[in-house]
Amino acid sequence: MKSHRPQVAILVGSLRADSINLKVAKSIMLIAEDRFDVEIVQISDLPLYSEDLDATPPVEYERFRKQIADKDGVIFCTPEYNRGVPGALKNAIDVGSRPYGKSVWGGKSAAVISVSPSPIGGFGANHQLRQLCVFLDMPTLQQPEAYLGGVTAAKFDADGTVTEETLSVFLEKIVSAYATWLSRSAT
Ligand code: FNR
Repeated sequence: MKSHRPQVAILVGSLRADSINLKVAKSIMLIAEDRFDVEIVQISDLPLYSEDLDATPPVEYERFRKQIADKDGVIFCTPEYNRGVPGALKNAIDVGSRPYGKSVWGGKSAAVISVSPSPIGGFGANHQLRQLCVFLDMPTLQQPEAYLGGVTAAKFDADGTVTEETLSVFLEKIVSAYATWLSRSAT
């Protein structure tokens, strides 16, 4: 019997072209290659959520909801904005959670990674997101916790590969723990 290769979405909480979170997301894609399939799902085109729009859902909502519904898991890679989750990411989460009773998040195995140049590593945003995962019914990887502090573009080369060994080793550890978490949740 052919075994199912897990399908994972990465949501990046920054819309910035040179985002350090996007760089981390791309590094995770490379590291995960032999363990699960990863797709970065776009959130930048989603209209701000209003239940009124769901009378005739925008194509962007339909596309996003389907992309998440088709996945086994979701990795969040996010900056912290004013000690919280950036608006674009919160909007995407809200879009996926509605219409009422049709949330696409339930049961998806999650991992929360926050990335910041600050030494605190986006702890506030990370824990807000973890709290959202409770309500969204997403079983979330507990360890290792991933508050990636002191991260700047200088830790990546022009191809986006991580050049700092400590960061590279930690990302490998997260991917490995998440792969195990995914396989456990699937049984
Ligand atoms: C920030 N930044 C920030 N950093 C942090 O560690 N804690 C915070 O509360 C905030 N607040 C904040 C608010 C807003 C509106 C912006 C634009 C930025 C700095 C942030 O971590 C930094 O810009 C990162 O580089 C953003 O991540 P990306 O875009 O590089 O992925």
